Amino acid sequence: MEKMNDLKDLLRHEILDLYSAEEQIIEALPLMIEKAQNKDLKGALNNHLKITEEQKKRLDKVTQLVTDEKKPEQEDEKKGFFSRLFSGTEGKQKCRGMEGLIDEGKKIMSEDISPEALDAAIIGCAQKIEHYEISGYGTAKAYAKELQLKDVEKLLDETLAEEYAADKRLTELAVGRLNMQAEQVNVRNEEQNEPMNESSPKEETRPNRKQEPGRNTTAKRSEPAMKKK
Ligand SMILES: [Fe+2]
Repeated sequence: MEKMNDLKDLLRHEILDLYSAEEQIIEALPLMIEKAQNKDLKGALNNHLKITEEQKKRLDKVTQLVTDEKKPEQEDEKKGFFSRLFSGTEGKQKCRGMEGLIDEGKKIMSEDISPEALDAAIIGCAQKIEHYEISGYGTAKAYAKELQLKDVEKLLDETLAEEYAADKRLTELAVGRLNMQAEQVNVRNEEQNEPMNESSPKEETRPNRKQEPGRNTTAKRSEPAMKKK
């Protein structure tokens, strides 16, 4: 029984950690949204702020369920490590891991860097935050499963799926941004290599370039650039 009590304590500890993490993210996201230059990135962060507010509410439900699971007689019988660690302050705990990630992000965002680099830094910072949450929710879900707390497991799994989706969206934005930059470099290189007296219209050599921002630029670069024999 002692082992299960300790596992429940670990779950409560993890939930308080995640609760603090979500609170800090809600506080940090508006600055990231303000600093983001790309409108898709701004939109994705805005959307995640709304989702995060819901996740915090979901954690309130989880906390309620985990607290209801407490058996007073067992708590008297054996005070778990959680109680020893946070005696009297069970309701509040600051997630230092998230605090560090957010501080690092703020530091980079305050640097004088180009808009493209700033967006890249914001995506990097947001993905580190997502990965922390994926790890935390995954761990808490595993504890809930082992403790056979099905409702808790289900709620944690809902948030975990949202965190994975947010991370995937950030990866798409990062890849899209890199493709766009590679495309711009490619265009500049081609323009530099083109003879000045070339009479053929540019549209012939770069069809629909603007309509295809995400296309594979490597394939295009490997085509022969020669036009004269
Ligand atoms: Fe979250």
